[in-house]
Amino acid sequence: MRAPLIAGNWKMNGSTELVEAFGRAFSEARLPSGVEVVIHPPFPYLEAARRAFAATPLGLGAQTLNPLHSGARTGEVSGAMLKEFGVGYVLVGHSERRQLYRESDDDVYDRLIAALSADIRPILCVGETLEERDAGRTEEVVLRQVGHAMARLEPAQRARLVIAYEPVWAIGTGRTATPQQAQDVMAAIRAYQAGYDRDLAARLPLLYGGSMNASNAAELLAQPDIDGGLVGGASLKVDDFLAICQSAG
Ligand code: G3H
Repeated sequence: MRAPLIAGNWKMNGSTELVEAFGRAFSEARLPSGVEVVIHPPFPYLEAARRAFAATPLGLGAQTLNPLHSGARTGEVSGAMLKEFGVGYVLVGHSERRQLYRESDDDVYDRLIAALSADIRPILCVGETLEERDAGRTEEVVLRQVGHAMARLEPAQRARLVIAYEPVWAIGTGRTATPQQAQDVMAAIRAYQAGYDRDLAARLPLLYGGSMNASNAAELLAQPDIDGGLVGGASLKVDDFLAICQSAG
């Protein structure tokens, strides 16, 4: 019922050369049927990626967007601009944006709405810090982040949402949540969504992010409520990323 989705978030990494290497590798690669794969390069590489990925199954994603359509916002990029470059998905609420750029739940919601208005699917990122987990507050924190976004969305908007659970303590640390830890949070998110609409909850794509790699992906993706991955570091290595995509079938 839910097709696997693997999203590679390059963060502030990559080069034209890497874009081309992905284009070459994925034009020859055989992916398991039904698996959707998206790369989120930094903004300057979107056009090169659009060209290099044209003959591949790779889709295009962005890492953030400004809530406004246009205007005096130096350095920012709008949903309408991303759409023009063929972007189909955009991350909102990534923990690096929440922590380093002080994006609040309200800021995240505004970006979510901007993505939906531009007809781009938002991948809402949520997750607890180590302190919050150790204090037994994981579910409370994650469901607060999910709920803040979900509560004001119309059913048609909720149907476009993808949620990525990324424990902050697992991002870029090499420390992965155990499959059971990840599954428990995913199940809680799906149950929360079921409170709004059971059918939509059953269709909601849930991704795990946090040191996913070629060795641990299959076990994580085998969990009943994990539908895909949001991959950082390992998405910068063509072979590793390809192996993750292949384990999603
Ligand atoms: O967006 C990706 C996540 O932050 C995970 O990053 O795979 O390097 O831990 P990571």
